[in-house]
Amino acid sequence: MASEQTLYPEDLRALVEGALADLRFAPAPRTEGLEEAMRYSLLAGGKRVRPVLALATARALGAPPENFLPVASAIELIHTYSLIHDDLPAMDDDDLRRGKPTSHKRFGEDVAILAGDGLFAEAVRLFCEQPGDPARVLAALRELAAATGVDGMVGGQYVDVTGAGLDAAGLRELHALKTGRLISASVCVVPILEGTDESETMTYRRFADELGVLFQIVDDILDVTESDERLGKPHGSDERLDKITYVSLFGLDRARALASESHSKASVALAETHGETDDLRRVADYIFTRHE
Ligand code: IPE
Ligand code: IPE
Ligand code: MG
Ligand code: MG
Ligand code: MG
Repeated sequence: MASEQTLYPEDLRALVEGALADLRFAPAPRTEGLEEAMRYSLLAGGKRVRPVLALATARALGAPPENFLPVASAIELIHTYSLIHDDLPAMDDDDLRRGKPTSHKRFGEDVAILAGDGLFAEAVRLFCEQPGDPARVLAALRELAAATGVDGMVGGQYVDVTGAGLDAAGLRELHALKTGRLISASVCVVPILEGTDESETMTYRRFADELGVLFQIVDDILDVTESDERLGKPHGSDERLDKITYVSLFGLDRARALASESHSKASVALAETHGETDDLRRVADYIFTRHE
């Protein structure tokens, strides 16, 4: 799982994996096929970066990570929905995801669309089951919904499919929206739930915003440099679709230098927080050095 150089917090990943495996969605036999499609994509593997970030943030704030499994799982459900829809023929038209045939290849486009829809709605339900002060749960849910919506992942995907002719600033904004916002929310929902003070929460936000952009810069690089087997998804997808990426705009060497700059900025921001941030630093290093 972890790259050669970096230790990933495997204990947190195991907590997430266990919580996701326990999730069931269908109350009746008639919808068991939909549940099967939802669980097929959800349990296919995946690095679990977003829920692990949430749990690592809990640890940084001195709270027990296992208390945050409902929100962490909800975030992974939303991410998985975004992947199912991203792979559809009308979007990136990819056949492989998490090392398996994509949802529409396995179940058909109609069921794949519904599996994504179902994962999103079940994520909201799960989030509402997060124990804690209801006002804080509501504020955290707002953060996650905003990060998923038009000023977040979905808006970013819109810019991605319509956005020919982006310059460097436009590309950074695209990455911040389509990938950065959900990664940032994975961190920020936890201080919101904990009632952490505003200035400390802002420090986590600065770290998480930069980390989110770094994540997608590295994704662009790996699309060019890695194999289908290593990635568990088809490499070269961006070039085939004529996507504007950090590699197409800057070339591989400059893209790597920009990833390195972004990793440094994230590390500096993390050092400004007051928490026990070892696991967050490990995840940040993993995001920068990963090959998968
Ligand atoms: C892929 O996300 C989609 C992007 C936002 C780049 P991940 O690389 O986190 O995919 P999984 O969850 O490990 O499969
Ligand atoms: C998609 O970006 C980001 C999402 C919101 C799913 P990509 O299209 O680059 O993701 P991959 O490379 O297919 O995982
Ligand atoms: Mg895409
Ligand atoms: Mg894609
Ligand atoms: Mg990609």
